[in-house]
Amino acid sequence: MAENTTPAVGEMMSPQPEQPPSGEPRLRMQGISKSFGAVRALFNVDFEVHDGEVVGLVGDNGAGKSTLIKVISGVGPADEGEIFLEGKQVQIPNPQAANRLGIETVYQDLALCDNLDVVANLFLGREERSFLRSLDEIDMEKQALNVLHSLDVKLPSTRTPVATLSGGQRQSVAVAKSILRQAKVVLLDEPTAALGVAQTRQVLNLIRRLRDQGLAVVVISHNLADVFEVVDRVIVMRLGKRVGTFDIKATTPEQIVAAITGAEFGQLMATNGTVQEAQDNDSIGGK
Ligand SMILES: Nc1ncnc2c1ncn2[C@@H]1O[C@H](COP(=O)(O)OP(=O)(O)OP(=O)(O)O)[C@@H](O)[C@H]1O
Ligand SMILES: [Mg+2]
Repeated sequence: MAENTTPAVGEMMSPQPEQPPSGEPRLRMQGISKSFGAVRALFNVDFEVHDGEVVGLVGDNGAGKSTLIKVISGVGPADEGEIFLEGKQVQIPNPQAANRLGIETVYQDLALCDNLDVVANLFLGREERSFLRSLDEIDMEKQALNVLHSLDVKLPSTRTPVATLSGGQRQSVAVAKSILRQAKVVLLDEPTAALGVAQTRQVLNLIRRLRDQGLAVVVISHNLADVFEVVDRVIVMRLGKRVGTFDIKATTPEQIVAAITGAEFGQLMATNGTVQEAQDNDSIGGK
């Protein structure tokens, strides 16, 4: 009797669409809490983003999104909780510590210098880290062209002052800068809020390229159309808590809106089998 050599089937991955990708996340946060005086902005929030993944962080005004991003970027450290980068616990007490760990944040107001050209902006601040080694102009220009090419960013010239660029082009320069700094995690706070249709498209393409390069990307957005176009997973915050996690491929905008607003989930979701009915605010969509 032939012995059955088929390996035993191990534990199957849960087919639930809201499960995050397997493996250790690039960035993982656990039990993050933060208060501003009497205002509790974050309650025991867990968060994770994997290599080559775009996570959309959504929620109504005051939900705690920016506060969470500020914890990651070292701008406003948490009162409680732990942060792990590639499985190793890290402290992020200030923005310099975040940068050293490869965490880069691109804000809507973009810390670019209008009067400097693209190359100068891309390398601005680098001297802080390598002040003994002066970067020569030709090398900087070569590196700038390489990174802009790899991201498929089209600019009139790398010698154009950024003041003359469109909003989308400026946003692209800011993102390219984070690539030049060899970011592992890129946080984008409302990257398309002020942009027109074509510019928005350019920035969304850029976000896809970051993912294709294996970076972990977090995008805060109020624009659900953008979210649906570019993210892999959505994490929903409400009143300082993480209230839902959704695989974008198995989710409708209505489900996300319901989680954002705290609508009666069971009633709204009755026709869709992909998201479990919430037992309480902390478990909508599973996490
Ligand atoms: N520096 C601060 N001082 C006091 N309270 C603050 C501070 N920053 C945030 N908060 C409070 O923390 C809560 C979360 O704010 P946060 O800015 O994180 O929200 P958000 O989700 O980013 O909202 P929005 O979509 O409006 O940007 C709010 O109640 C807010 O008033
Ligand atoms: Mg905010």
